[in-house]
Amino acid sequence: MRIQALTDKLREERTLSDAEFEELFAILSQGASGPCADQVRICNDIPQAVCSPEEAVLYGAARQVREEYYGKDVYLRGLIEFTNYCRNDCRYCGIRRSNRNAERYRLSKEQILDCCAQGYALGFRTFVLQGGEDLSYTDEKICDIVSSIRSLYPDCAITLSIGEKTRESYKAYKDAGADRYLLRQETSSPAHYRYLHPEELTIENRKRCLADLKDLGYQVGCGIMVGSPEQTLSNVIEDLRYMRDFGPHMVGVGPFIPHRDTPFRDEKPGTLKDTLHLLAVIRLMLPGVLLPATTALGTIHPVGRELGLLAGANVIMPNLSPVNVRGKYLLYDGKICTGDEAASCRSCMDRRIERAGYRTALVRGDCAGFAAE
Ligand code: 5AD
Ligand code: FES
Repeated sequence: MRIQALTDKLREERTLSDAEFEELFAILSQGASGPCADQVRICNDIPQAVCSPEEAVLYGAARQVREEYYGKDVYLRGLIEFTNYCRNDCRYCGIRRSNRNAERYRLSKEQILDCCAQGYALGFRTFVLQGGEDLSYTDEKICDIVSSIRSLYPDCAITLSIGEKTRESYKAYKDAGADRYLLRQETSSPAHYRYLHPEELTIENRKRCLADLKDLGYQVGCGIMVGSPEQTLSNVIEDLRYMRDFGPHMVGVGPFIPHRDTPFRDEKPGTLKDTLHLLAVIRLMLPGVLLPATTALGTIHPVGRELGLLAGANVIMPNLSPVNVRGKYLLYDGKICTGDEAASCRSCMDRRIERAGYRTALVRGDCAGFAAE
């Protein structure tokens, strides 16, 4: 089978030529719409976990590689969405500054520490502080929050996801105790980047940020949305090349989902299949990478995150934000888990992970092979 040859080559050489990537994705998308008679079941406990024989080959290889590095463990990250104020105006994002309908909020340091205390009691050993680019949190405030978490929870990893900053700021957060940083490039293609973002944002600065973060010793996560407006297959291949050259420790990949108060309100969402194909390809290309099955994937399909695990993902990021602000951090429409207490999300996730054949690991969950200096 051609799919087997391409999968083996990707696994061994960790890359393919453009023509081979194109062929691989073409085979996968044909299979995805093939007749039901051909469907293969990839998990006995999840009725929706069926795919084409071609997809089964790719996903099987991705799971094998994931298990070589991480066994059956799934790492949890407690996500704290601490502000939905944002100075940027990205065309896809529900908390873009020009969305007057967004009800804005900020969490105080005390509220953030409460989330951590709750999360710690639930077994989380990584906290992800995510927010819009909100300059009211000065570097000094961010460093104060980070160093408080660091001293209260020395056994936990602290991840920041607060956008583009100067190298000096990134260094200050690192010195205060941050371990990891998430900043998706969104698309590596300059023209596509221009289309998705306002003038002030450039792919050059985004890549500069990612390079600085890596150089400063962070575990760094980049990533893209799947099926964002005007994304082409050659954009995605360009992203794969960028990721392979950059060598991220984490890759965040989820489907684009339109938000009703953005210019992209009428655009089509990214698909489940395309996202799963890409997760599996990334797992084979970057075998030890931390790869979340994202909330966006869980939003477009009732068992999207479980299917993500079955395609090679190994991280889940349940929400730890206080329930009264959950429904306000809406990057896209229909976001799941906005009404659930942290504890109920936590046990719900345990059941889901188990059903997919994996187990929750209550550890920091660093990138395989990462050694901080
Ligand atoms: N659909 C899906 N993902 C989105 N993000 C922002 N807006 C959307 C959307 N409409 C993603 C971006 C960002 C991450 C925090 O959320 O990739 O980096
Ligand atoms: Fe949040 Fe299921 S993971 S309710």
